[in-house]
Amino acid sequence: MKPQVVCIDDIERYALDNLNKSVADYYRSGANDEQTLAENRRAFARLRIRPRFLRDVSQRSLRTTVLGQPIAAPVCASPSAMQKMAHPMGELATAKACETMDTIMILSTISTSSIEEVAAEASVAMKWFQLYIYRDREVTRQLVERAERSGFGALVLTVDTPMFGHRLADSRNGFCLPPHLRMANFVAGAQASDAIQNRPTDGQSGLSEYAQSLFDPSIEWKDLRWLRSITRLPIVVKGVLTREDALLALKYGCSAILVSNHGARQLDGVPATIEALPEVVKAVQNRCEVYLDGGVRTGTDVLKALALGARAVFIGRPILWGLAYDGQSGVEKVFSILKQELDMAMALSGLSTVTDIANQSTTSSSSPLVVSENYYRSQL
Ligand code: FNR
Ligand code: LAC
Repeated sequence: MKPQVVCIDDIERYALDNLNKSVADYYRSGANDEQTLAENRRAFARLRIRPRFLRDVSQRSLRTTVLGQPIAAPVCASPSAMQKMAHPMGELATAKACETMDTIMILSTISTSSIEEVAAEASVAMKWFQLYIYRDREVTRQLVERAERSGFGALVLTVDTPMFGHRLADSRNGFCLPPHLRMANFVAGAQASDAIQNRPTDGQSGLSEYAQSLFDPSIEWKDLRWLRSITRLPIVVKGVLTREDALLALKYGCSAILVSNHGARQLDGVPATIEALPEVVKAVQNRCEVYLDGGVRTGTDVLKALALGARAVFIGRPILWGLAYDGQSGVEKVFSILKQELDMAMALSGLSTVTDIANQSTTSSSSPLVVSENYYRSQL
C-alpha cells in the first residue's frame, strides 16, 4: 500500500526515502552550495497574491495552448534524464501519464527509453524532444531526424549546458548509469551510448565525464541557424535567464523560450527562474511564448508564474518523484495535485480562466495580481 499523499512535497519525501541513494542524490541535487536550488523555492515564497472577491468563479477552466497545441492545464513535463532509474517504465510511464493528463512531455536526449519507443507508447503530437548538441554533428542530426520522423511536435534546445555543473553528491558517489540501463537513443557500442557506463575517475561524476567527452562546448547562437536549416520543427530555447539571450534566441529564429536554470544544477548563484522571468518577458514583448521551469511545486507557484508572463510552466523533479511513487499513476497524481491546487488558487483569487491570469499584468496594471513582499513593507 502506498502512503497517502496530498501535495507534491509528500510525493518527494516518499521518493527520497525509497530511491537508491546515488539515484536520489542525482535527482535531488543542485550545483555546489545549492544556493540557487533554495532560491528557486524561496523566490516564489517572496511573492504575494492580491486576491479579488465577488467575481463569479462558478465556471472555471484551466485549458490553454502552447505553440498552438491545446493542453488541459498550463503545467507540462520538463525533460529529465534517465527516468528508468526512478521506475522500470521510466519515460514510457511519463509519456503515458502526459497523454492521459492531456499535456506536453519533453523527452531528454539522454533518456533510458528511445525516441521510437516513446512514439510507439503514446501519441506524439504532444511530445517535444530536448536536444544536447554532440561534438559529432552527425549524432545530433540523426536525433533531429528521428524525432521529426517519429512525429514529435517541437525541438527543445538546451543552451545552458556546455558541460554539467558540479553536483557534489554525484562526485562523492561516483554517479553513473546502473549497468542494466542504457542511453536508449544511441546504439550499443557507440560512444554516446556506452561512455556513461564507464567507471568514473575517482571523485568524479560519470555523467560529467560523459558530457565533457561528448557535448560540444563550442556552440554559439549562430549554430541555431544550422539547427533551423536541418528541421522544420519549431525550436524552443531552454535555459535563457537574461534579456540579452532572449533577444538572441528570437533573432536566431526560436519559436518559444523556456526560462530555466536547469533546476539549479548548472551555475550556482544565478537567479531563481521566477526572478529572471519578468526581464525576459519584457524583452520578448509577445513576439514568442515564454515558459518557466524551476521550483514549481504548488498551484500558487503556477499562478504566480502565469501572472508574471509565463504562458505555461514545466516541472522537472516532481515527475521523477511521481515515477518513484507509483510509475504512470504517480506522475498522473503529480499533475492532478497541481491542477487542483491551481484551480483552487484561481477561484480564491477571483479568476476563472488562464487568460484572466495573463491579463493581470504586474508591470502595467494598477491592480497587479502578484507583487513582491516588499510591496507590503513599503506601505508601512
Ligand atoms: C534535469 N534537467 C534536464 N534538462 C535538460 O534540458 N535535459 C536533461 O536531460 C535534463 N535532465 C535532468 C535530470 C534531472 C535529474 C533533473 C533534476 C533535471 C533540467 C530540467 O529539465 C528542468 O529544467 C528542471 O528540473 C526544472 O526544475 P525543477 O522542476 O526540478 O525544480
Ligand atoms: C542533468 C542533465 C542530464 O541535469 O541535464 O543531470
